[in-house]
Amino acid sequence: MKIVAVFNYLLSFLIAYWNTESVAEDEFIYGQFPSYFRWGIGTSSYQVEGAWNLDGKGENIWDNFTHSTPSPIKDGSTGDFACDSYHKYEEDSKLVKSIGVDFYRFSISWSRILPLGTKEKVNQAGIDYYNNLINSLIHHEITPVISIHHWDLPMPLQNKGGWTNEEMIEHFGDFARILYANFGDRVKQWFTFNEAWVICVMGYGDGIFAPGVKEITETPYTCIHTILKAHAQAYRIYDLEFRDEQQGQVGITIDSGWLEPSDPNKLEDIEASERALQFKFGMFASPIVFGKYPDIVRKSVDERSKQEGRSTSRLPSFDKYWTDYIKGSYDFIGLNHYSSYLVTSASSDPGPGWYGDQNAVTFQDPSWPETGSTWLRPVPWGFRKVLNWIKNTFNNPPLIVTENGYSDLPDVGLNDYGRIEYYKGYINNLLKAVIIDGCNVRGYSAWSLMDNFEWASGYTERFGLHWVNFTDPSRERIPKESVKYLRKVFLSNGFPKPTLPWNSIQLNEQCAAVALDPDTSF
Ligand SMILES: *[C@@H]1O[C@H](CO)[C@@H](O)[C@H](O)[C@H]1NC(C)=O
Ligand SMILES: *[C@@H]1O[C@H](CO)[C@@H](O)[C@H](O)[C@H]1NC(C)=O
Repeated sequence: MKIVAVFNYLLSFLIAYWNTESVAEDEFIYGQFPSYFRWGIGTSSYQVEGAWNLDGKGENIWDNFTHSTPSPIKDGSTGDFACDSYHKYEEDSKLVKSIGVDFYRFSISWSRILPLGTKEKVNQAGIDYYNNLINSLIHHEITPVISIHHWDLPMPLQNKGGWTNEEMIEHFGDFARILYANFGDRVKQWFTFNEAWVICVMGYGDGIFAPGVKEITETPYTCIHTILKAHAQAYRIYDLEFRDEQQGQVGITIDSGWLEPSDPNKLEDIEASERALQFKFGMFASPIVFGKYPDIVRKSVDERSKQEGRSTSRLPSFDKYWTDYIKGSYDFIGLNHYSSYLVTSASSDPGPGWYGDQNAVTFQDPSWPETGSTWLRPVPWGFRKVLNWIKNTFNNPPLIVTENGYSDLPDVGLNDYGRIEYYKGYINNLLKAVIIDGCNVRGYSAWSLMDNFEWASGYTERFGLHWVNFTDPSRERIPKESVKYLRKVFLSNGFPKPTLPWNSIQLNEQCAAVALDPDTSF
């Protein structure tokens, strides 16, 4: 029996290799996702809700950051009113439904539920708002999926040091418990944190996002360390107090682009690619899967800390208790993926800290198409590569793509053909990763339901499938062309081979040209 198992194992690799080789990087394939696959669309509280000081909501770090002078936001804007989803949740549910998805991924504004950040004061109006949203989604046959924390930490907790203070672990656990207790009868999928890398590096390291802390040597590591513990706390609370009764699942969302060796034949660049991926995705995935930081990261930060004359490493360690507590604290992992980068080792050392420790320089190929965001260029094949890297590095964990999306070039309005091309390429590469490579991806959520407050870029970058009129007090939402395309992909569960010519959907001429492209007319 054993020999048969080994033989089958080797055969599966051979088949995977054969299939991979037989499909070119940019080749479009027909095919459908497995029947268990689920489709979704996402937003986050601070980016869409508005109502920043209504009905008992407390101040959070993004309120504070956007209200500071001079404004750290590109267009000087705030999320005070945003898309006014606080009042328009019923309309939002209908928009979600119109896209043809199974689930809606949204986040909870911590300060709306706990104005002071701690469990002592619960704001019933906040509980009511999310109950209304959840019930409205269920009424429209949409599954609610919750991100517990998407960056908007209550200001009173930030005043205690935020994620650099281990006290947050308990507060986050309390917050999660309140959510499970109030919404867990109807909500079965939870993500503890969204993109903790962004919180810790851009918020506490570079300081270009809230809370605006600029300290790159130790603080990003302290922040990551606290967040991993807080994540495990929320996971274990679910395990101990809610799982039996509610039968849901808890995971964490980690962001990562693909980091392609600048010269794929150069060992130095291949190693830089692995380092950069471990400092990005591995920082979070390795502790929850293996109970420790990636070996490459451990070695680099320990050695450099020693060279700097420090008695302890800038990268903290988990003791036995926390190692066991964090290891295995996931039912699935969320991946946010937007773009790819070329990577090579650095020619000079920027000194002690997050960037120097990685010894990697990333940049993009100027021949890759542009979008409305400087950091985002469509590289569809990179999606398949990062999915395979995760599969191979972390024992093929159950994965949900929690974000993937495109920001419009200026003046595109409703005719967002660039977005259609983007989704076509990315979802097709996801299909290859799932049905050819065997990546264990269970679902996919596009970003975003509508244009919204894009953090330090304010309203200058539009990621929505719906165009939002931000000068209109009623914040009218209008579907862009991409809604029709994605609806077709989602309801078809992929790209089935066409049996009839493309004539079932009314498209204007330019969109029809995209749609009727032989690769697209599924
Ligand atoms: C930001 O928060 C700090 C600390 O609570 C407070 O002193 C400051 O006034 C706030 N800034 C703004 C612009 O609200
Ligand atoms: C946006 O709303 C404003 C105010 O209601 C209106 O004047 C303007 O025509 C709208 N723009 C578009 C493109 O619909």
